[in-house]
Amino acid sequence: GLVNTKEMFSRAMTGKYAVPAYNFNNMEQLQAIITGCIRSNSPVILQVSGSARNYIGAGFLPHLAAAARSMVEEARSAIPVALHLDHGNSFELAKSCIEAGFSSVMIDASHHSFEENAKLSREVVEYAHDNDVTVEAELGVLAGIEDEVVAEKSSYTRPEEVEKFLEMTGVDSLAISIGTSHGAHKFKLKPGEEPPPLKFDILEEIERRVPGFPIVLHGASSVMAKHIEQINRFGGKMENTAGIPEEQLRRAAALAVCKVNIDSDGRLAMTAAIRQIFAEKPSEFDPRKYLGPARDELTEMIIHKNTQVLGSAGRY
Ligand code: G3H
Ligand code: 13P
Ligand code: ZN
Ligand code: NA
Repeated sequence: GLVNTKEMFSRAMTGKYAVPAYNFNNMEQLQAIITGCIRSNSPVILQVSGSARNYIGAGFLPHLAAAARSMVEEARSAIPVALHLDHGNSFELAKSCIEAGFSSVMIDASHHSFEENAKLSREVVEYAHDNDVTVEAELGVLAGIEDEVVAEKSSYTRPEEVEKFLEMTGVDSLAISIGTSHGAHKFKLKPGEEPPPLKFDILEEIERRVPGFPIVLHGASSVMAKHIEQINRFGGKMENTAGIPEEQLRRAAALAVCKVNIDSDGRLAMTAAIRQIFAEKPSEFDPRKYLGPARDELTEMIIHKNTQVLGSAGRY
């Protein structure tokens, strides 16, 4: 069955790795995630945003999740699987997901005041814990996508607020802002320029104040150059964009970061594969002939992340 994130995170903390949290919206993505994690013996958090849940259909989603569990059982794999609400924005949405069988939820009130954030997070924790469901909240605001104007709205997590927030809420994990951002356009670099490093001083200060507490990294896609090149080579237009370097994620995963969220990289992998097929075989019209290769590309990407970046491979 589905499990909450408690034991996954305590094992990740001890083993100095991070559990991958991959977003999905459809059957092919879900199959790729499960297949990639079974093949690499990695724990996995399947996550859906509110809009992804609407896209799939709230009534259909539990059946997809059940199918994912069956895949694990049929493969006689021992990997734990959590089903998590990503960026839940209300108590009602979190409650509805818990009633539908989710094993973990995020309540994201990070754009509200500290008090409002703590109050709403606490409310979700009370309901969730009664149902053996774990809760992730967020402190600090991630940089926006695209330009500097939006990015200025970001504010790094203040380590001195963390202990009080955890005491007030009882959450099981905390997403923090240390320089990552959502989407496929995190950094626009000049030739030869490197992305700015993450704020490891903040992460280390938080770990010092709340040792052993699981930290979550959102906006952690690397915007893999090979997929950007493939997209551009086959008719796409995604110029001059970069994400979080793998080395930075490796370092974070070895510290208190126990969950790393990846959505954009999966979208790019599928799009790259589909663009190539559409460009090379313009007469192809069987969805299996392009969604199949897209699924394979995503599976390979997931094995790569688990094995080479997060260190979650081979743990089960
Ligand atoms: O953090 C957001 C995730 O990438 C989900 O995005 O709301 O478009 O499903 P979405
Ligand atoms: P990316 O856009 O970097 O993949 O981040 C995904 C995420 O944080 C989902 O919550
Ligand atoms: Zn996120
Ligand atoms: Na870790």
